[in-house]
Amino acid sequence: MSKLLDKARKYEKEQVEKIPEELRPAFHLTPWVGWMNDPNGFSYHDGYYHMFYQYHPFDVRWNTMHWGHAVSRDLLHWEYRPVALAADETYDEHGCFSGSAVTLDDGRQLLMYTGVHPSAEDPKRDAQHQCVAIGDGVDYEKIPQNPVIRAEDIPEGDDRIDFRDPKILRFSDGTYVVLTVNLSKDGSGQVLMYRSKDCINWEYWKVLASNHNRYGKMWECPDFFEIDGMWYLITSPQFMLAEGYEFISGNGTLWLDGTFDEESGEFTEAGRHRSIDYGIDFYAPQTVLTEDGRRIMIGWMQNWDSTEVRGEEDLPWFGQMTIPRELFVRDGILCQKPTRELDALRHDPVIYEKEAFSGSREFDGIEGQILDLTVELSATDPQQVFEKFSLHFAEKDGQYTALDFCPKDELLTIDRRFSDVRHAGIHQRTALVSGSKTGNLKLRLILDRRSVEVFINDGEKVMSAMIFAHPQAKGISFHVEGEAKVNITGYQLV
Ligand code: FRU
Repeated sequence: MSKLLDKARKYEKEQVEKIPEELRPAFHLTPWVGWMNDPNGFSYHDGYYHMFYQYHPFDVRWNTMHWGHAVSRDLLHWEYRPVALAADETYDEHGCFSGSAVTLDDGRQLLMYTGVHPSAEDPKRDAQHQCVAIGDGVDYEKIPQNPVIRAEDIPEGDDRIDFRDPKILRFSDGTYVVLTVNLSKDGSGQVLMYRSKDCINWEYWKVLASNHNRYGKMWECPDFFEIDGMWYLITSPQFMLAEGYEFISGNGTLWLDGTFDEESGEFTEAGRHRSIDYGIDFYAPQTVLTEDGRRIMIGWMQNWDSTEVRGEEDLPWFGQMTIPRELFVRDGILCQKPTRELDALRHDPVIYEKEAFSGSREFDGIEGQILDLTVELSATDPQQVFEKFSLHFAEKDGQYTALDFCPKDELLTIDRRFSDVRHAGIHQRTALVSGSKTGNLKLRLILDRRSVEVFINDGEKVMSAMIFAHPQAKGISFHVEGEAKVNITGYQLV
C-alpha cells in the first residue's frame, strides 16, 4: 500500500471514532470523515451495493481527491470500507476524480477514474486522463498500463484538459463501452465513447451526444440507460443559463431522451429534456441496475454553487448523498420515487383525512426530523381555490424551512431563508407544477435531520435541499390563505 493511502486510512479510522452517530443523518450516506462530493462507482458487486465517492478525508473542504467507499445491502444502511484510492501516482498526483465500477468476468471489481496531473503543455493547468484500479472489494491496485485512455485518444482539435468522469456500460454482446465527457471544438461539452473487450485496452469509438452550447458548457458525470425501450442520457452541465423555471444558472442537471442502437452506437435524441432535480442541492447523480431490474439513482446532495452556505453547526463531515430513487417513465417524463427499501424503515403512522382548514394549523403526531410525510392538498371549493399554501418544517422558535405553493401561478418554492443560517446565498428554488391551478398537489417529503427531498405529484419533479435546523427543530405546521383540504400521512423513519 502506498504511503499516501496508508496515511488516509489511518487518519479516517482515528477520526471516525470521535464522530457520534447523532451528528450524521439516519439513512443518508455521509463521508466517513471530511469532505464528500460526487457518487462514484455506484454498482452491485459480491452481494452488496458499492458506493464510492469523491473524498478528501483531511478537511471539510474540497482538496486532493481520494475515493471513499461504503457498501450496503439495502441502499439505506451503509457500512464504511477503508478509502479505496489515493492520489499516489504521478499520473494522478493532483487527484482521483469521478468514475465508475464494474465486476469483471473473473469476479474482480474494476474501478475506472480520472487521473488528474499537471499538464505538460500548460503547467498552470491540470490535465486529465482515464485510469484503472482492480481489486477485491476492499483493496485496489492501480494497473501498470495506466493511463488507459490518454489525451491523445481525444478527437483531433478538441480541448485536452477537460476530459473526465468515465462511466462504464456493458453491451449485450459483452463489449465494454465507456462514456467520458470532454470539451469539443465549439467550447461546450460532449460525451465520447470508447470500446474494449477487457476494460483495459480501449479504442476510441464515436461521439454519443453533443451539447452544441444548448445546455451550459462542459457536461460532467454522464450516465446512460434504457427504461421501457427509450434511452436516457444524464449529465451535470456547468455554466448553465437559467431558462424559465426549467433550468437554473450555474451548475445544473439534465436528462435527454432518445433511441439508441448498440451496434452502430447511434443515439437519436427524441427531443424531451428536463432538469433532474429542482431543489437547491443536487448534482452529479449516478445510477445502478438492481438485480430485480430497477434503475436506481443517487446524487450528491450539494451543488457547487451552494457549498459555501453552511449551517451554524461545526460538523466533522461535509456533503451527503440523496436517498436512492427509483427511476420510471410516465407520459414520456423521467420520474423518481424513493426506493421501496425505505418502506421497511417506516413506523408509527399518523393519518388525517379530508381535514379542511384556513389560517394556520398543526396536527397532533405530525412532527419530527426523520420523517416520511405525504400531504395531498386540494381546494375545499373548486370555484374558489386558495391563494397560497405553505408547509413549514424543521420548525422551532420562529425558524423553519418552507414549501410555498401558489396555485394561480402553478409554482412551488422551497425556501430556507428563515432557518438556522447566518449566511447569505442560494436559499430558494422554484419549480413549475403544471396542471396545479385547481389547487391539487401531492407532496412526499423525506426528512433526515439536515435534509429534505420533496417528491412532487408522485415523482414528476423532485426538489432536494440541505436544511439548517436546530437538532430539536421538529415542528411541522400548515398555513393557507383561503381554505384548503388535506390528507396527511406521516411515518417516523428508522
Ligand atoms: C463534478 C466534478 C467532476 C470531477 C469531480 C472532482 O462534481 O467536477 O467532473 O470528476 O467533481 O471532484
